[in-house]
Amino acid sequence: MKTNRFQWLLVGMLASCVILPVQAEQQLRFPVNPPQPREGQLLHTPPTMDDLEAARMHPELKRVIRRGHDLFMNTQQLRGKNVFNDMNCSSCHMGEGRMPFASPVWPAAVVLPNYRPKNDHVNNLEERIAGCFSYSMNGIPPEYGSDDMVALAAYHQWLAKGVPIYQLGDYYGRGYPIDQPSQEPSHERGHALYENNCAICHSSDGSGMRVKGETHFPAVWGDLSYNWGAGIIRNFTLAGFIHHNMPLGQPYTMSVQDAWDIAVYINSHERPQDPRYEGDVRATRARYLESFHKHGFYGTEQQGRLLGDHRNTGEKPILKPEVLRARTFTPQ
Ligand code: HEC
Ligand code: HEC
Repeated sequence: MKTNRFQWLLVGMLASCVILPVQAEQQLRFPVNPPQPREGQLLHTPPTMDDLEAARMHPELKRVIRRGHDLFMNTQQLRGKNVFNDMNCSSCHMGEGRMPFASPVWPAAVVLPNYRPKNDHVNNLEERIAGCFSYSMNGIPPEYGSDDMVALAAYHQWLAKGVPIYQLGDYYGRGYPIDQPSQEPSHERGHALYENNCAICHSSDGSGMRVKGETHFPAVWGDLSYNWGAGIIRNFTLAGFIHHNMPLGQPYTMSVQDAWDIAVYINSHERPQDPRYEGDVRATRARYLESFHKHGFYGTEQQGRLLGDHRNTGEKPILKPEVLRARTFTPQ
């Protein structure tokens, strides 16, 4: 899989050499490097797997963290059990979950437990990980306290090594931050940009690319992509992801405006149902409007279609994993 990915990366880079004049012009117009830290932001460089090997730790702990890293990079090993789409955790948390502006995952290990508006209760690290399983992986999370969950949480905490806990501060490169676009995002411009910059890997119908049953490039919409409850369906989040990270190997070549245009184009396509759906898409949108859906197109009409008006859960055999239940913490 790796060799092929890098072959494609090479193709991408060669293509960008062929269109050198455009590329050079873009480099003048847009920053080639990530944004500089702002004053007061906490900068953290997470340790690497080599640092882990060199660290003075119990060998069994190292083994568990390695397992967490392996699950993070190749989450497809849980396909059909916990994962029902083409994603690995690293499909969106690029650079092993360590990279700024690709939603590095270590902040969760130092700001949680905390109240989370998305599910209206206090979440810990395992529940945050379970959230990405339920929505981004269109999956059914491993049980709390299971070997896989402990290993994943251990990897997150290892990445946070040395960061003070509970500072609730402003962390450099957290999430996928992006400015507002200067013009109203355009589906039409987004369509053209997608065809020219993205379709070569993610295909014109959004289904990505599979060779001999193995995913080389993940789906950006449709049954094998994330579901309507995933954080990245918010237009600003997807735009931020694209601006900082795509096309693969050519970050910052899509301007802020380009990224918003492509985001609204991608987001006006169908994907598996939001696990919180209770039978009526407009009611589900209304229920989670403020905390979530006001940032996306779920339950709205786009290109003449009411998005999310279906019972399709993709490959996942159920709609709602049991762990998504409400919690009240009131004594029984
Ligand atoms: C389809 C994209 C996608 C995939 C796949 C994905 N995530 Fe996420 N994840 C996100 C988004 C979007 C956020 C929220 C980022 C933001 O806006 O702050 C997020 C946030 C997180 C956070 C919180 C980070 C913070 O700053 O507090 C953790 C932890 C996390 N994900 C873990 C995982 C794990 C573990 C997996 C694999 C089981 C995974 N994610 C798969 C998109 C994804
Ligand atoms: C050279 C191939 C390539 C090109 C071109 C490319 N991508 Fe990607 N994209 C990838 C790979 C590979 C990943 C998964 C990241 C990883 O595994 O390192 C990815 C991940 C993504 C994701 C998150 C996971 C998912 O499937 O939703 C989105 C969204 C995305 N790309 C959008 C875009 C957009 C928009 C463009 C065009 C501006 C683009 N990509 C161009 C290869 C590519």
